[in-house]
Amino acid sequence: MSALASDVPIQTRRSAPNSAAQRLLHLSAQAWCALALVGQGLMAVYVIGFYGRAALEGDFERWNQVLFNGHVPGDGFGNAALALHLALAVLIVIGGALQLLPVLRRRAPALHRWTGRAYLLAAVVLAVGGLFLVWTRPSLSGTASDLGVSFNALLILLFAAFALRAAMARRIDSHRRWALRLFIAVSGVWFFRVGLMFWLIVNQGPVGFDPETFRGPFLVCLGFAQTLLPLAVLELYLRAQRSHSLALSGSAVAVLLAGIGITAVGQFGAAVMLWLPWL
Ligand code: HEM
Repeated sequence: MSALASDVPIQTRRSAPNSAAQRLLHLSAQAWCALALVGQGLMAVYVIGFYGRAALEGDFERWNQVLFNGHVPGDGFGNAALALHLALAVLIVIGGALQLLPVLRRRAPALHRWTGRAYLLAAVVLAVGGLFLVWTRPSLSGTASDLGVSFNALLILLFAAFALRAAMARRIDSHRRWALRLFIAVSGVWFFRVGLMFWLIVNQGPVGFDPETFRGPFLVCLGFAQTLLPLAVLELYLRAQRSHSLALSGSAVAVLLAGIGITAVGQFGAAVMLWLPWL
């Protein structure tokens, strides 16, 4: 989110008070963004190191040590869709980081446009492929949880369309807002893992779901919260950035600082429990 503040159009910048609260808002957004990019980078390293290595060795069965469905013998199309999904998961993490770098947008706008197009395409294929995998293969967490991640996929498609439309119409401020919403929605599956690990650490074990069946009300709520909660924080941030209200900026800073704490704990848990053991 560091890009958020530095990409504010001049017009908006002038109207915003140059207060300590605004600087704090900018810094906390930058700090959260840096933390998130490190965590998403770790997830990408895990995908390459585990799924990529197994694929290179021709041992696709190894994917099933982690995934509920994974490599299903006889389901060539589904397996290919999953392989594409995993490859794009890595590319979209790299693309997201590149798109957020302000220096790249300023110094190499053509590169920003091309990586932007690739990012949009990857987001659409990930969302459509994810929907295909969720609704054509046996369900891991039940229909309610599947609806949560499908809602995430629909928002990805919607935000991608709005971000593209605004860019084509050269409405840069609007494009920035929709692109940031898209980045947050695309990060939904990562938010799910961070949220789950935070919950496990804070409660010292599983609460609100059965770890054996991976079903329960907490997981259903998390399936929707993975998209809605971070989007709500982004909206607060965007409003605070344009506002003269100290109360609004202060609230946004407080929420972002809480977000940094939750992300740091959850990400540590995800790295230690979900990703590093498979490398
Ligand atoms: C757009 C960003 C997305 C990224 C970066 C992403 C990334 C990943 C990763 C890394 C995995 C491997 C899971 C693991 O090892 O923990 C995975 C699996 C999977 N993803 Fe996604 N995904 C995205 C979106 C979606 C969406 C929107 C859906 C559903 C609508 C979805 C459905 C699935 C399914 C069904 C699996 C296989 C799960 C299993 O069989 O256990 N993904 N994804």
